[in-house]
Amino acid sequence: MYLRKAREQELEQIYRMGFDAWGNGLSMDAYLEGCRKSAKYQSGAWFVLTVDGQPVASLIVYSGQFGLQEGCFGIGSVATAPEMRYQGFGSQIVRRATQILFEQHGAKAVYLHSDIGHGFYQKLGFSRLQGTNCFCHSYHPRFLQSSVPSYF
Ligand SMILES: CC(C)(COP(=O)(O)OP(=O)(O)OC[C@H]1O[C@@H](n2cnc3c(N)ncnc32)[C@H](O)[C@@H]1OP(=O)(O)O)[C@@H](O)C(=O)NCCC(=O)NCCS
Repeated sequence: MYLRKAREQELEQIYRMGFDAWGNGLSMDAYLEGCRKSAKYQSGAWFVLTVDGQPVASLIVYSGQFGLQEGCFGIGSVATAPEMRYQGFGSQIVRRATQILFEQHGAKAVYLHSDIGHGFYQKLGFSRLQGTNCFCHSYHPRFLQSSVPSYF
């Protein structure tokens, strides 16, 4: 299992991983077209978790926008390929990406907005920012009381 930056030619496969969650009733073609044109998606850095070189899960990392303070990062669009779910890959990609942001990029805090039950991210060390679906992982307590970045 390996975490790396996604390659351009893997983006369609990545978008497909989240179709059931974010397809909003669109056809696959219309959904993929929206993903390709998404300014938000183009503004982040996509990562994949691979097994035998093949992406099994993906997420996007943002910084410098959405009200994220300097040195803070946002993780979005966490998804595992539907046929690969419930094998720990979703947990692993969040865990590894967060670790890299802290260890290699000096992250002060890592945020995400949860579209799913809260237990998944709490198990990975994230704390819910009071009264929101935004979660924060930080070793600086002040960030756990900080303002909530806008949705990403
Ligand atoms: C959420 C998701 C990334 C989990 O990926 P995965 O590879 O199956 O994750 P893991 O195998 O590490 O963990 C499975 C856990 O996810 C939990 N989970 C999956 N879907 C969930 C949901 N809708 N609500 C709450 N928990 C959920 C399972 O209950 C399971 O928990 P358990 O280990 O306590 O049994 C995957 O279901 C997915 O891609 N969903 C569609 C996109 C999406 O909704 N992403 C989340 C955006 S916040």
